Amino acid sequence: MTDPKPWFPIETERLRLREFRPEDEADVHAYARIPEVSRYMVWGPNTEEDTRFFLGKSLEAQTRWPRTDVSLAMATKTGDQVIGAIRLWVVDLENRTAEIGYTLHRDYWRRGLTFEAANALINVGFEILGLHRIIATCDVRNRGSWGVMRKLGLRREGRFRQDKQIKGAWRDTYAYGVLAEAWHVANR
Ligand SMILES: CC(C)(COP(=O)(O)OP(=O)(O)OC[C@H]1O[C@@H](n2cnc3c(N)ncnc32)[C@H](O)[C@@H]1OP(=O)(O)O)[C@@H](O)C(=O)NCCC(=O)NCCS
Repeated sequence: MTDPKPWFPIETERLRLREFRPEDEADVHAYARIPEVSRYMVWGPNTEEDTRFFLGKSLEAQTRWPRTDVSLAMATKTGDQVIGAIRLWVVDLENRTAEIGYTLHRDYWRRGLTFEAANALINVGFEILGLHRIIATCDVRNRGSWGVMRKLGLRREGRFRQDKQIKGAWRDTYAYGVLAEAWHVANR
């Protein structure tokens, strides 16, 4: 991710993937406070202070460019309401590999919004950033998360046993991935 020009905001049919703004705090907190949303995450459910800290860190990161870790707000195109977040970060620069992650407000699940956002982000990753491989990981019990990965065309590459502690308990992790060449064939 060394492109001198920022490759965002990204427009999809229903969303604008854009940088966070200070005035997004209430919107971010509205989803980050919901226990179901952060059930499989290392963070959350957020207190107001947690959300302010997250947003502050995001705003601070946004002052630097280029950077190899980009979090974007998932904002509705109709009302510019922030309903989630999506992130792309380089895990192996030399081998042009990046990881994606996403979070969406519970009220908006199962409408294809995360698929729409992640699909657009992966396209940018391969088409603009020249990545070779994009990966994603999640708790094996997080059906929604690996459902998105599968629908995107990522392949399950493995299962790590108890590699992470989430909310005081060991979890197993699924690793998914897609190569640029497979993406290009599937999305021709
Ligand atoms: C994971 C999450 C982002 C999915 O977002 P979403 O916008 O509801 O997902 P989509 O509507 O784009 O779903 C895409 C596909 O994934 C699968 N899927 C999504 N949620 C699912 C669920 N709860 N159960 C079963 N399959 C599911 C389906 O195949 C779906 O396609 P379909 O609706 O055409 O059948 C959302 O559930 C969420 O924010 N969860 C909490 C945060 C989180 O766990 N993030 C991932 C951390 S690794």
